[in-house]
Order: sequence, then structure tokens, then C-alpha cells
Amino acid sequence: MSDNLKARECFGSKFGIIAATAGSAVGLGNIWKFPYVAGENGGGAFLIIYLFFVMAVGVPVMMSEFAIGRRGQRNAYGSFSVVAPGKRWNLIGLMGIVAAFFILAFYSAVAGWTLEYMVSSATNGFAGQSSHDLENTFSAFIANPIRPVVWQMVFMILTALIILAGVSKGIEKYTKLLMPLLLLFIIVLCVRSVTLEGGKSGLAFLFKPDFSKVTAKTFLYAVGQAFFSLSLGMGALITYSSYFGKHENLASTAVSVALSDTLIAILAGVMIFPAVFAFGIEPSSGPSLVFITLPGIFQKMFGGGFFGSIFFILLAVAALTSTISLLEVVVAFFSEELKMTRRKATFIATIAASILGVFASLSLGIMKGVTLFGKNIFDILDYSASNVMLPLGGLLIVLFVGWFGGKKMLKAELSNEGELKTKYYPYFNFAVKFIAPVAIAAVFIYCMFWESLG
Ligand code: PHE
Repeated sequence: MSDNLKARECFGSKFGIIAATAGSAVGLGNIWKFPYVAGENGGGAFLIIYLFFVMAVGVPVMMSEFAIGRRGQRNAYGSFSVVAPGKRWNLIGLMGIVAAFFILAFYSAVAGWTLEYMVSSATNGFAGQSSHDLENTFSAFIANPIRPVVWQMVFMILTALIILAGVSKGIEKYTKLLMPLLLLFIIVLCVRSVTLEGGKSGLAFLFKPDFSKVTAKTFLYAVGQAFFSLSLGMGALITYSSYFGKHENLASTAVSVALSDTLIAILAGVMIFPAVFAFGIEPSSGPSLVFITLPGIFQKMFGGGFFGSIFFILLAVAALTSTISLLEVVVAFFSEELKMTRRKATFIATIAASILGVFASLSLGIMKGVTLFGKNIFDILDYSASNVMLPLGGLLIVLFVGWFGGKKMLKAELSNEGELKTKYYPYFNFAVKFIAPVAIAAVFIYCMFWESLG
């Protein structure tokens, strides 16, 4: 009997489920994007709006994915084939698998950078560099045709080894170890940051509500950020929930995961901004915040080599628990639909994602000239997955569950076939049917048209 026909593997404990799922959600998006977007868009005012979207849009989409995966007991594509037999809804799953593949390619490139920076911090490699030098170091590093690619491969191999070990002995075992470590590191760094002299204005930047900065765009950023950060719309949660036990309470799991992800995002802000403001530096976002601004700060700070290394280990861990979930989406699909052994599926998926990943990496250097609509390969992969496939996938998922075929299934899954009380069901149902589709459609239209116009 081939191993895909054996009894399906399962996560062994509630903590394992939360660690794996929150591990997928907590990633680079929480650390380099959320804090800055929050600070720039009204601080506390953005937090309130974001929290509203997490609960009103994120949780309903997440529960819908959980319901599909646990009912289907298959990968993202196969689960739709089970819950909606003979219909084409499984194309949503297929799009999710493509999205996972795309995200894995550029995400693993960035994850590789964190390893290089971890080593440099630990060996004091940034000592004496001015902010201008740090900028040059970073641009020269990412444009280098070899080093980033080597680190990216190291990262892919790490991810593949965990996937190869299986669902409970690989994914669950390592995320249970890594997620508490991540929390510990983030707390250590938060304490270091808020105890710096002059750090208070950083907390004000993050938390002080400034409603004058809230515009239509703020709402759209909040939905977009919630989607990427919660790993929604691309099959990761469908795949993971197919490994949930049948007595698992899906609604409370979704709420716990969404709140943990948000808490870590907020802590990331508490870790970053007091330090940035204490050294009188303008906050920036994305790669430059993490790879240029922060190394500059660590260098000036007492114990900076140590705290810098911890910071980059933290980033690598956050990225690893996310790449695991991305690779699992593809591996589960290959092994169940194309009837491969897990070993072979992992091998092929890793090689394929690595090849695409190398192109993503090289497109920041020697392949810069290869562009489509003015975007290099890295940006094409990011844009098409994050701004097109994720929101479209999420929209179709809530339409399926709220309006077509999936309605009965949602109730049966949320109540564990009548075992649990579903006091909150009317609220969830309303959110799945109305709030989520309208909000996602708005962000989707915005990303596709408005932004490209201006
Ligand atoms: N949620 C992850 C982050 O915030 C990214 C991710 C998206 C991971 C989709 C898996 C699937 O970094």
C-alpha cells in the first residue's frame, strides 16, 4: 500500500495545532510590515481597525478554511473535491497551491538573508559601519549572485528536512519547540528596547491613536495585512486543518490563532520602535528597516552583537515556521493527488521551489533586467500571490461556504456534528456571508485597479 492510502497523519495535541497554525501565521509579515504600517496609519487608531478586520474578516475566512480542510481530509485541492464533488471549486485549491509555491520562492530568499545577518551580527561583522555603509553592504549582498542563493538553499533544506519527518514528528514537533522560543526572544528584545532612554516616543508612534491619519486606504491596508499575516486564502490553513482531530473546536482555534498572530505583531512594534526612536532614526519599513536600520541600531547599543544575533535568529525562526506551512501545501498536494510518496513529493517540491527561488533571488542582481510590467521576478511573484491570488482565493472561499454548497458543512464542522454548542454561529454566518466578501472585494478591487492607476 502506498503511504498516501494509510491512515491520515494527525496533529497530536491542542498545543501542537496552535503552534503549527500560529507558526504559519507569525512570520516576516508580522515583524517587518505590521509595526510600520500601524505606526504610519494612525497608531492606536490603526490597531483598533486592524483588530476589527482580524475578527470580522480574518476569523470567518480562517474558520471557513478549517471547515473545508477538516471535512475534506485532503490537501487544498483534494479537500474541495471531497466537499463539493463534481464541481470546479477545487480550482480555488489549485490556485492556492500555485500561490504557496510563488510565496515560498521569494519568501525563502528573504529568509536566507536572515541567516547571513545572523552570522554577521554574531561575528560583529557590522562594527564600525555608518548607516551609509550598511546600506551599501545590504544592496551589495542581495545583488551578489552566490551568497544569498547559498543561504536560500540552506533554508530550503531545513524546511524540507522538517517536512520530510512528517506531520506530527516534523511539523508539530518543531513548531512546538520553535514558537515558545520565538516568544521568549521577542520578550527579551522588547525589554531591551523599552528600557532604552528616549524609547517612549517609539511607543507613542505605535500606540497613540491619531484618527486624522485614517482614510479609506487605512481600511484597505488593514484587510490586506490581515490576509497575508494570517496566511489566508492560499490553502495553508486548509492543509493544516486536514490534520486537526475531529473533536477540535474550530471556532476557538481560529480566534486563538488570530489573536496570537496579532499579539506577536504588536510585540514586534514594541521591540522595534522604542529602539528606532531612542537613536533618533526615521522609521522605515520592509527590508530596509530590518536589514539596514536595525543593524545600525544594534551596533550603537550596549550588548548589540548579542541582541542583534537574537533578533536575526528570531526572524529566521518566524520565517521557518511559515515556510514549513508553505512547502506542506505543495507536498500534500503532490503526495495525495499525484500519488507520490511523501519523500518523493518533498524532494520534487523542494527542488522546484528552489529553482524558482533562485530566479527570485537573482532578479535583485544579475537578472534585474528581466521584467514584466516593470516588475522584476521577485516582485511579480510577490504581487501576483499576495495581491491577486490570496484575496481572490479568500473571496471565493467565503462565497463557497456562505452562499454555495458549503453552508451545511460550516455548521456541522463548527459544532463538531452537534457535539458543541454554536451560540456564536449566527454571528459567524453573517460575517462569512456579508462582511468578509464585501471587505475582501473592496481590497481586491483597490489592489488591482486603484493602486495601479496611481
Ligand atoms: N503569514 C506569514 C507572514 O506573516 C506569511 C505566509 C503567508 C505564510 C501565506 C504562509 C502562507 O509572514
